[in-house]
Amino acid sequence: MENGKNDLSEYYKEAAHAEEEISTLKTCVDDIKRKLYDKVIQPTEDPELNKLITENTKLKHRLAILNRAIGEEQSQNKLSSNTKMESITEALNNLFCTAISAAFPDIQDPPVVIALAGNNPKFGDYQCNSAMPIANIYKQSGKKVNPRDLAQKILDNLPSHPMVEKCEIAGPGFINIFLDRAYVVKSLSTIFEHGVQPPTVEKKRVLIDFSSPNVAKEMHVGHLRSTIIGETIARLLEFVNFDVLRINHIGDWGTQFGMLIAHLQDRFPDYLDNMPPISDLQAFYKESKKRFDEDPEFKKRAYACVVKLQSFEPDHIKAWQLICDVSRKEFQKIYDRLDITLIERGESFYQKRTEKIVKELEEAGLLEEDEGRKIMWGDQSTNIPLTIVKSDGGFTYDSSDMAAIKQRLEEEKVDWVIYVVDLGQATHFYTLFACAKKAGILDEKKHRVDFVGFGVVLGEDKKKFKTRSGESIRLVDLLDKGMEKALDKLKEKGRDKALTPEELKRAQEAVAYGCIKYADLSHNRNHEYVFSFDKMLEDKGNTAVYLLYAYTRIKSIARTANFTPEKIKELSKKESLPLDHEKEWKLGKVLLRFPDELLKTLNDLYPHHICEYVYEIANTFTEFYESCYCVEKDSSGDIVKVNYGRILLTEATAMIMEKCFHILGLNPVEKM
Ligand code: ARG
Repeated sequence: MENGKNDLSEYYKEAAHAEEEISTLKTCVDDIKRKLYDKVIQPTEDPELNKLITENTKLKHRLAILNRAIGEEQSQNKLSSNTKMESITEALNNLFCTAISAAFPDIQDPPVVIALAGNNPKFGDYQCNSAMPIANIYKQSGKKVNPRDLAQKILDNLPSHPMVEKCEIAGPGFINIFLDRAYVVKSLSTIFEHGVQPPTVEKKRVLIDFSSPNVAKEMHVGHLRSTIIGETIARLLEFVNFDVLRINHIGDWGTQFGMLIAHLQDRFPDYLDNMPPISDLQAFYKESKKRFDEDPEFKKRAYACVVKLQSFEPDHIKAWQLICDVSRKEFQKIYDRLDITLIERGESFYQKRTEKIVKELEEAGLLEEDEGRKIMWGDQSTNIPLTIVKSDGGFTYDSSDMAAIKQRLEEEKVDWVIYVVDLGQATHFYTLFACAKKAGILDEKKHRVDFVGFGVVLGEDKKKFKTRSGESIRLVDLLDKGMEKALDKLKEKGRDKALTPEELKRAQEAVAYGCIKYADLSHNRNHEYVFSFDKMLEDKGNTAVYLLYAYTRIKSIARTANFTPEKIKELSKKESLPLDHEKEWKLGKVLLRFPDELLKTLNDLYPHHICEYVYEIANTFTEFYESCYCVEKDSSGDIVKVNYGRILLTEATAMIMEKCFHILGLNPVEKM
């Protein structure tokens, strides 16, 4: 093609235009499909639908042809000047989607199946496994076809792309895809110039509700899970440049404050002038609960205090604030130690809004009387209603959550709300979502809401995690214990002799808090897990200790060869990443998956994907290091040869591990 550049920009314009048209049509088709689903219209009776489907297919075909031309132009002009690693899965998906829709214009939404190839280099790096399901679609409409022929047809329509070196048909119709090494080198090398960049995703405003302990009650391991998982999800969302609101929905309003305030008035009558010295709020809670249960006079006063608090009587508000302050300080100690950031916005924040929404729900006829209570039903999938107003007229956890979801979607105008709460509350949240939809607050076409649940933490006896005397374990004690055990472990390895006291302290914290976080994050969050310091402090297997050690070892390689980060950056301009050796190639391909792993986690919010991924990086690095020398020394320990390219590969590995560590909240140390 002569005037390559001009033609290309025309193609781009037309392709963008066609894409826009398709997306509009898609919305129409989706809408009609939904109506069909609801049995509002019958397919054969609706010429509008048939017309749209034909139109959509035609446009898709046109887009496919245009995309193909772009791909061909790109490979000729080597246009791609990337500043970040792109998602290979996504790029292959687009490429094969183009080929498949061009090859089979008669099939509506043909399946595009891209997978990682197995370990045998013969099968390439990725696979497209679409031919078999497409053959099945033909078979169902009575046409017999050979999937291998279909695979060939896909390849005939495949635009050439600099990412793909070659494709081969194998077995019943698999397409083995071989990545182009020069392309992979180029893609990975972007990190030396631009750092490890996030994949490109459409920016969203997200609110994440996590941690959320209750005032005056001790934060327990359930809250610890929410805190750790929530922090990681928040870090991931921030890394991909979303606008993130980290909200601590603490339980700071409710009837328990009646007895707490009444008890405060008795124990510290001068509380309005002098800050009461409550050091152990849990004991204070227990004392007041005991009086509440045993003394009817006190109980009466406690109820009166609730009423006064809820009508915002100043002295009662002051007492409430004092109690919240004590709790807040305790919570903050945990957050500081674990490096957690949160904005406190507890249940009390929503009180005025709760009054308002209750009125609105009532006026909309959405509330039902039930033995003096006012309840609201969700949809068929949830069979327990929300209690919006109690029989004594008070509000509940449910009603403040209705007010909160409205505040978040309508005032904060977020696109996405994520609740990180134990699985025991699943029904509450699914009912909440259904009710919010019913009330016109939540619109699933505009908003995404996720309940990110998690299983319980078990003790080593496989029973609910408790102290020997059956009390729930205080988080501070747990963290202290972790620090103690981490130090033992480091001493066992003689690290107290090799490190300076400061280095040892840093390593101790990295190990202690890292192991607690990682043990939590590396398990599928839907499962329960056994809390065991001995297991999490093992230096083999998928543990924080193993990974932190692997990282320090990797970092020490460049250090041995006297490479500072600045020198490595310089080096990357002269030297290119080597990917010829089988183990170099294997490592390079694992690193290349970084954007894919993040996108996967962004989609399903399972942080254990990232843990498995860093673990795979560490293992693949070990394999590489065992067969590829980076720095060669003679018998007296002097450096005789440095493989500069491999130093770069080592650094790239460390950089990607660091990003994963950051998302997981692990603090890597250079010396351990
Ligand atoms: N404070 C609650 C508890 O400890 C968790 C709150 C979760 N968030 C929410 N919006 N309901 O069980």
